[in-house]
Amino acid sequence: MQNNVRPESMARITTPELANAFIKEQVAAVRAQVGDKKVLLALSGGVDSSVVAALLIKAIGKQLVCVHVNHGLMRKGESEDVIKVFGEELDANLIYVDATDRYLELLAGVSEPERKRKIIGEEFIKIFDEEAAKLEGISFLAQGTIYPDIIESKGVKAHHNVGGLPEEMEMELVEPVKLLYKDEVRVVGEALGLPHGMVYRQPFPGPGLGVRCLGAITRDRLHALREADAILREEFDKNGLNHVWQYFVAVPDFKSVGVRDGKRYEGWPAIIRAVNTVDAMTATIEEIPYSVLHKITDRITHEVEGINRVCLDLTPKPIGTIEWE
Ligand code: XMP
Repeated sequence: MQNNVRPESMARITTPELANAFIKEQVAAVRAQVGDKKVLLALSGGVDSSVVAALLIKAIGKQLVCVHVNHGLMRKGESEDVIKVFGEELDANLIYVDATDRYLELLAGVSEPERKRKIIGEEFIKIFDEEAAKLEGISFLAQGTIYPDIIESKGVKAHHNVGGLPEEMEMELVEPVKLLYKDEVRVVGEALGLPHGMVYRQPFPGPGLGVRCLGAITRDRLHALREADAILREEFDKNGLNHVWQYFVAVPDFKSVGVRDGKRYEGWPAIIRAVNTVDAMTATIEEIPYSVLHKITDRITHEVEGINRVCLDLTPKPIGTIEWE
């Protein structure tokens, strides 16, 4: 097994050629480590776990078992993308668990953010454990650990890693990208043929839309949030704004009065937040052109049932954290 220190001599992977050399080397290393045994991977659809999945599929094919847990708090189309790319195109051994009802029942009436995070994290571990128990002959656990995770493991990331895996799962780890920085993981992902949108997607918190559907989550408000967020992302793509580090919608749990078709129409506000940062410790606000904001407002208020206002969050970090909760 590799150790956890990146050698100074290791060249930064910036080109497809360097990525291909890395892939070749890791494919050989994984085959040597794993032999003919089976490997389990929690595949969230995020950049790191997706790249590890693609790399391991190349190395050991169906000896890799991917488990994708849809906690019902994914952004629009994300679980579908995982199924399409890994289940269909890469023909992976993929177990898809739709745990939406289970999560939403557990979260019903829970408004305290850290309690919500705890429930989401603990339930993930339970479900992953249950799925692992159904499988036979798993000897290894693959993880999308990257170098900043190792460097920062005692820092801010610790409380964020709610999607962590059961500690009692004592299996040997397979962590092929653990010495890479995020930009390198992306170059490797593209060289492996993963879709650009998957490899360059913005960071998405483990608890997903759960911490953007503010207060106690309800199905109708979560649905409205997911649709509004999809519109925001679509318009950012169309208008060349998808370089922004993180952009999303949050929907609070109160309504305001509005008017539609001459009648009173109460609805939730959709709050737009778009920030740039280097390390998420501080963040500045992206200056979205007013023409784009008008378009987004028009689309969200006309296309999303239950939303009757759009607001823009102009608060830098500090004083506001990136997420609202
Ligand atoms: P804050 O809100 O603390 O966010 O300014 C900093 C970065 O961390 C992400 N974030 C999370 N990521 N689990 C995660 O995996 C979480 O519970 C969580 N909370 C915040 C946030 O999206 C931002 O990128």
